[in-house]
Amino acid sequence: MIKVAPSLLASDFTRLAEEVKTIENADMLHLDIMDGHFVPNLTFGPGLISALRDKTNLVFDTHLMISNPEDYIEEYAEAGSDYITFHIEATNHSHRLVQRIKEAGCKAGVSLNPGTSLKDIELILPDLDMVLIMSVNPGYGGQKYISQITEKISKLNDMIKEVNNNVEIAVDGGIKLHNVSEVINAGADIIIAGSAIFGSENPYETVEKFRTAGK
Ligand code: DX5
Ligand code: ZN
Repeated sequence: MIKVAPSLLASDFTRLAEEVKTIENADMLHLDIMDGHFVPNLTFGPGLISALRDKTNLVFDTHLMISNPEDYIEEYAEAGSDYITFHIEATNHSHRLVQRIKEAGCKAGVSLNPGTSLKDIELILPDLDMVLIMSVNPGYGGQKYISQITEKISKLNDMIKEVNNNVEIAVDGGIKLHNVSEVINAGADIIIAGSAIFGSENPYETVEKFRTAGK
């Protein structure tokens, strides 16, 4: 079953609690943390995550697009994250970081920018709960899906089968109803979408359409 993770980045920030209610049928809420350093944009931090925590039962999927992620793991876990994903490009100590995320009680994810090779995560793959493949360059919502990423998803799917692991593949950026089946057929388990869901007339129905798109 495909999981759908709407990205809060595309919601109306003046009415977050109500926005989250419109997608209660989703599987996860994707929370984009940007620091103006690792990516050229700023969003929000752990304070907002903990403020939202008692407003919804959705699984919180925290995507850290930040430098020095090692300085913030426990803070984001305590704020209410269920998954914590860091960027492989942002640390020299990916193995240790994965262990720390798990010790903090969360599922551990690693994200790769479009230009980063799958080889960079080969050795830590058996320890991961999720790999988040960026299908746009991180920093902004509403960008166009980079078509070469479809092949990257298939290759990752093959790598995961080889290590006989339950790692989930999440894909993030530029996913719309017209291209979601391509992403699912390549092997994605979790579809992250911001503008296509929160920008739609009926976010609840759009979540359902995303979920059934691969069938
Ligand atoms: C981009 C973020 C994405 C973004 C996706 O840096 O990581 O999660 O919100 O937005 P859309 O679906 O509009 O491309
Ligand atoms: Zn994201």
